Amino acid sequence: MADLLSPLSLRETAVPNRIAVSPMCQYSCEPDGLATEWHRVHLGSRAVGGAGIVMTEATAVDPVGRISPHDLGIWSDEHAEALQPITEFVRDQGGVPGIQLAHAGHKASKTRPWDGNVPIVPDETDPDGAEGWEVLSPSPDAYPPFEGDRPAMRKATQEDIEGVIDAYRAAAERSLAAGFEIAEVHAAHGYLLHEFLSPVTNRREDDYGGNFENRTRLVREIVTAVREVWPDDKPLFVRISGTDWLDDRESWDLDQSVRLADDLAELGVDLVDVSSGGLHPDQAVPGGPNFQVPLAERVREEADVAVGAVGGVTEPEQADAIVRNDRADLVLVGREFLRDPYFGLRASDELERDPDDAAQQWPVQYRRAAHR
Ligand SMILES: Cc1cc2nc3c(=O)[nH]c(=O)nc-3n(C[C@H](O)[C@H](O)[C@H](O)COP(=O)(O)O)c2cc1C
Repeated sequence: MADLLSPLSLRETAVPNRIAVSPMCQYSCEPDGLATEWHRVHLGSRAVGGAGIVMTEATAVDPVGRISPHDLGIWSDEHAEALQPITEFVRDQGGVPGIQLAHAGHKASKTRPWDGNVPIVPDETDPDGAEGWEVLSPSPDAYPPFEGDRPAMRKATQEDIEGVIDAYRAAAERSLAAGFEIAEVHAAHGYLLHEFLSPVTNRREDDYGGNFENRTRLVREIVTAVREVWPDDKPLFVRISGTDWLDDRESWDLDQSVRLADDLAELGVDLVDVSSGGLHPDQAVPGGPNFQVPLAERVREEADVAVGAVGGVTEPEQADAIVRNDRADLVLVGREFLRDPYFGLRASDELERDPDDAAQQWPVQYRRAAHR
């Protein structure tokens, strides 16, 4: 029986345990999108702290796909070079470096959370002087009207769509050059790919809108393009929102997620990372411990693919129970990894029966602190 500390084999990649750092935006780049000292220390600390997978924040495949002007990017070789020391350090600590490849779609061009998370219209700037831009959307009227300024929006043309697919392919190639072992396509949280998936935000009448097949086409085409360049021996993840949490209307739901997960597995996706929501302000999200785990569990039961669970996991025993009870193959931990960068070491201390085995998980530099 697998538990939280069991290794996880995905293709030729051996993840040392089932604990992953969930992708978390740091909004800590200059507007050039290059990784900084902050990213090196932030991600490096969690690798020291025993995470099996250290996943970057949403990393923009194209400058217009950034949530804020301060997001991390991978749209040039220089970006890959800036990320390379991070992947090397994570590997040196025994962790597996992963990158989340993202396009923010309609939710792009915003100020950072600590500056209010408000749209920056083109020709205007955030408090740091970084300019806003025109954002991309499947439909021109995807959301209820904003109060105040809204970013200039552009309905994606066929050419835009091809550009996004090419950007994902190129980003995957650069991620490989940067030394990443896992690529994750971000198709959750109301960003571009989720905006195409959900009938709430996708009102297109071409091959990319309407029925399930059409709404899922862009995600499938992107996954196919990424898989073409992502080596056969390396795992590919997709993060989805399992549901829009909009039961009162036609929306993206768990039945469609299960169906999509099966389609993605056939295209070479190894793990579906099941988050939820983020699409629409009317969403009714339950919250609380394990609040999204039932979504992951159902995808795992009904689709033929490994699954990651995320959301409201704060304790090693809680994470262990998710794996032991076959609810997910991997547990992604977000905010608790911000509170405690050593969550992975805490898990081995608390769950490993033999204290000597637990101590072995600690970096040699810290081992004198491991025996209590
Ligand atoms: C500061 C912060 C930034 C986040 N940025 C991202 C992101 O870049 N990509 C993503 O998929 N989710 C992002 N999330 C969501 C987390 O990955 C995670 O799914 C969510 O916080 C729920 O897990 P938790 O309860 O363990 O925090 C972010 C969450 C936080 C708190």
